[in-house]
Amino acid sequence: MRLIPGLGCFATWDEEKQKEAKHWILSALKSGYRHLDTAWIYGTEGSVGEAIRESGIDRKEITVTTKLPWHHPGYVLESIDESLRAAKLDYFDLYLVHYPQAVGGIRATEKSRGPERPSGSHESYYSRETWADMEKVLASGKVKAIGISFSEKTLKELLQTAKVIPAMNQIEMHPFLAQTKLLQFCEEHGIKVTAYTPTAYEKGRTDPVIVEIAKKYGVSPPQAILAWHVKRGRAVTTKSTNEAHQRENHMVSTVPFTYSAVLAGYMNALDCNLRLCKYPNEQGMVYGWTVEQLGWD
Ligand SMILES: NC(=O)c1ccc[n+]([C@@H]2O[C@H](COP(=O)([O-])OP(=O)(O)OC[C@H]3O[C@@H](n4cnc5c(N)ncnc54)[C@H](OP(=O)(O)O)[C@@H]3O)[C@@H](O)[C@H]2O)c1
Repeated sequence: MRLIPGLGCFATWDEEKQKEAKHWILSALKSGYRHLDTAWIYGTEGSVGEAIRESGIDRKEITVTTKLPWHHPGYVLESIDESLRAAKLDYFDLYLVHYPQAVGGIRATEKSRGPERPSGSHESYYSRETWADMEKVLASGKVKAIGISFSEKTLKELLQTAKVIPAMNQIEMHPFLAQTKLLQFCEEHGIKVTAYTPTAYEKGRTDPVIVEIAKKYGVSPPQAILAWHVKRGRAVTTKSTNEAHQRENHMVSTVPFTYSAVLAGYMNALDCNLRLCKYPNEQGMVYGWTVEQLGWD
């Protein structure tokens, strides 16, 4: 199986940078990327749409993912229309529930970084009403598939009432957080998995084992990590605003890596349940939820 990295389209919380994202999204499309991963809260749906049109590439050749924000549990049908309008697209290929946390009753236009703000109160909409509305969005043809970004615990809750099994679970995954148990659960239920934060940031670029493996193969540390994902048969979404890094990451789909079982074993041994993207604050909360509520080990 040959897995082609997708491009993460998070562009910081600065609105100017979100608009400028069109340029690096376009350069990624020119480098061969055909999957763009955005979200309502990223504010880059417009830039994604513009980059697609400017690229001249047939829309049907590009997979576009967007995500329902944490504060739209009561606005799913309106929220997808808002995302489509922002991107000026007729449909999205994949629509994900961005967080298991949800806060209702907040103005649909309000943007905020995480679900703990601004109200601090949380309700468990997603298992029932919100997923039922996601299913309606799927039936409308405005999206081709629906999915989530959940742990095994929150996914199990959703599966109790879901009529449509999520097509995709997008989770933080890299050699320091291999997610073996969650992968197995998803596999058993026919749910595909995509890794976010797949290169593990600076930690991945400087880890001595990864640096050594990269040297052995004559590749960069991010390429060595991405090849590990490919060896495990997993899709990834990597973000880079830098054209050279974009090409480097994308090359993993065309350079034939032959990871030996021994080297893959060294990489697997790095797993230490370390979260680098979303992790508990000093009060032990992640966007208003405890680790137990989230179902993180
Ligand atoms: N579902 C969710 O809740 C969720 C959460 C987080 C992320 N995501 C998605 O996943 C995407 C990627 O996640 P992420 O940004 O956390 O992780 P990432 O792609 O592993 O890391 C991105 C960072 O690594 C650097 N980088 C990437 N490739 C590099 C290379 N070859 N050499 C050196 N530096 C490199 C980038 O800097 P440069 O720009 O300088 O290259 C950037 O600072 C996001 O954009 C988003 O679409 C989803």
